[in-house]
Amino acid sequence: METVHGPATDKILSPLPRPFRFALLSMYNGEPQLGTDGEHHKLDEDTRISPEQGIWLYNLCRQAKSKKTLEIGLAYGFSTLYFLAAIGENGGNHTAVDPFQSDWHGIGSRQSRNLNMSDSFRFIEEKSVPALVHLADRRERFDVIFIDGNHRFDDVLVDFILSAELCAMGGYIILDDMWMPAVRMAVAFVRSNRKDFEELKTPVSNIAAFQRKGEDARDWLHYVEFKDSNRRREIRRLAPALLRRGAKAISRIVRA
Ligand SMILES: C[S@@+](CC[C@H](N)C(=O)[O-])C[C@H]1O[C@@H](n2cnc3c(N)ncnc32)[C@H](O)[C@@H]1O
Repeated sequence: METVHGPATDKILSPLPRPFRFALLSMYNGEPQLGTDGEHHKLDEDTRISPEQGIWLYNLCRQAKSKKTLEIGLAYGFSTLYFLAAIGENGGNHTAVDPFQSDWHGIGSRQSRNLNMSDSFRFIEEKSVPALVHLADRRERFDVIFIDGNHRFDDVLVDFILSAELCAMGGYIILDDMWMPAVRMAVAFVRSNRKDFEELKTPVSNIAAFQRKGEDARDWLHYVEFKDSNRRREIRRLAPALLRRGAKAISRIVRA
């Protein structure tokens, strides 16, 4: 992954209002960030959405005029900043769910305070399953939901199923990390079985996006087989890296 983001990132982020752009540039450039312990911490470079993904989310929220947004998986709050930027302009509020904020030094949960948006932000420090069930009990509805929490197949699928209950009619559910087989399988289920959701084409290959178009009208016997249609393409894409890793492992064994 790219470590230093230069003028290209600045250009991608240019639609954002200045405070959000500067906060994101500082994070993408790897500057240590203030945690809830009052210390600055170096960021793990793999835990973030890309500027392209973030701007796509921001534009979606702006175009849909979303006022209630939800994300599962906060970490350092890269995605949070794009949501807050849109909410700052649309009005409304953003909710983030994450049980492990201490692993990220509380950096994500501080973002709204840094931007004077504490009143527009709610942090639920809980696993997604109980958190989403509680939100459904309270009959809350969201215009855009971003799933980027635990990436195991069953967790992603359950996050989608519960998010579908919370998604407003015409609202959107976005899933991150389509490079992962577990996420692609969960998405394959949605594509084949959830005809109440229509898939959107996106220019960003690492996400899948669905719009809620109707009620879930399947009968209790309904089941359509599903398979990962991108598997071959992904294997071809990952093959050189896997082969390099294999060659390194063999040379380590030979040297030992
Ligand atoms: C890839 S990171 C999220 C990155 C974030 N969306 C961003 O762009 O900065 C995944 C996050 O999911 C959280 N997580 C793990 N299991 C979870 C669960 N069961 N429910 C909610 N969040 C979870 C982790 O603590 C981590 O913060």
